[in-house]
Amino acid sequence: MRTKVAIIGSGPAGLLLGHLLRQAGVDAVIVERQAREHVAGRIRAGVLERVTTDLMERLGLGERMSREGLVETGFNLADGERLIRIEVEALTGRQVVVYGQTELTRDLIEAAPERGLEIVWEAGEVALHDIESDRPSVSFVAKGERRRLECDLIAGCDGYHGPSRRAIPASAAREYERAWPFGWLGILADVPPCHHELIYSNHERGFALASMRSPTRSRYYIQVPLDEKIDDWPDERLWDELALRLGPEAAANMTRGPALEKSIAPLRSYVFEPMRHGRLFLAGDAAHIVPPTGAKGLNLAASDVAYLSEAIIAWARDDGEARLAGYSERALARVWKAERFSWWLTGLMHRFPDTGPFERAMQIAELDYIAGSTAMRTAIAENYVGLPL
Ligand code: APR
Ligand code: PHB
Repeated sequence: MRTKVAIIGSGPAGLLLGHLLRQAGVDAVIVERQAREHVAGRIRAGVLERVTTDLMERLGLGERMSREGLVETGFNLADGERLIRIEVEALTGRQVVVYGQTELTRDLIEAAPERGLEIVWEAGEVALHDIESDRPSVSFVAKGERRRLECDLIAGCDGYHGPSRRAIPASAAREYERAWPFGWLGILADVPPCHHELIYSNHERGFALASMRSPTRSRYYIQVPLDEKIDDWPDERLWDELALRLGPEAAANMTRGPALEKSIAPLRSYVFEPMRHGRLFLAGDAAHIVPPTGAKGLNLAASDVAYLSEAIIAWARDDGEARLAGYSERALARVWKAERFSWWLTGLMHRFPDTGPFERAMQIAELDYIAGSTAMRTAIAENYVGLPL
């Protein structure tokens, strides 16, 4: 097989990149380890910045998103008692859209065949070769047969656990990491949300988040210790805890229901530099991870791909290597700012093993300052809605 750009991974990064390249007439093939049903069914994030919705619209794939997505003009921070509204639209002129990553992924996968974007599903033993040469390739096993995809460039969009980042020699790279001493226990349920906007709550018992997927589907999270067992959290116990941590106003409007999905995810901050080595370009979770506080993960994957697609399309039109060479630095400048915002909001909103009365008082004082300062709320709003490309 031969193509111009071999894309490893069909998460949001790989799918958006594949579509953007095909739209510009650049050949691309996606090689994905999982089955199509698995990828299309994964429950992930749900808040889209303008960068992400713009890409879907530019691709002509924003129709269902604009019909079913919930436009949000603000969100709330809470201290266990009161809500502090961050008036995102009033402060920035922009909005975010609640539309599940599951739905976005489905729209992109369904449109792939008609746009000539080939996706090889269930590819085993995916490996990268000769990334330092100008004839790189990707080998894999599909339907029991060993195959090789020759290409000019490889885009590593294979998430945190994929092989792309590991193909870069350690001597050429630098890793930055912060592991957080807790995880998020999430529940998805077919019940109306307790509030029309998201609520991030810092309660003495720990963090909680009220989010949603639609007017009839809610997504909630609570902070739990890293060694917590999901079996220790039957639905009723989780609803009780959410009601306590989200505060009286949210609790009064909370509808309980059986869990459609329940899982625990650890929190991690991670950046790998540079995002390019030879003919290999990393995008999305393959190069960086943010804790979910602030919903930056998916949107960072989208902004990486906005930069990378532009660079690859210019190069394919014989614009030379300059844009390709500038990709990593450009993408990382935005990545670090989103890392900072996610790190800051995580620190402000969670209970840490060493959170004593003083640290708690500092968090409450900061929330009180935010409540009274338009300057602070503006800074939060412009980060939440997404920094410009
Ligand atoms: N070979 C091929 N594909 C692989 C391999 C492999 N060895 N390993 C992983 N993959 C695939 C995964 O199955 C997945 O479909 O790469 C894809 C990576 O997708 P994501 O993890 O969704 O990462 P990304 O596209 O960068 O999107 C980042 O998605 O999951 C969220 O929290 C994440 O919101 C963030 C966003
Ligand atoms: C979600 O709805 O899954 C969600 C929303 C906001 C976050 C994280 C997750 O910050």
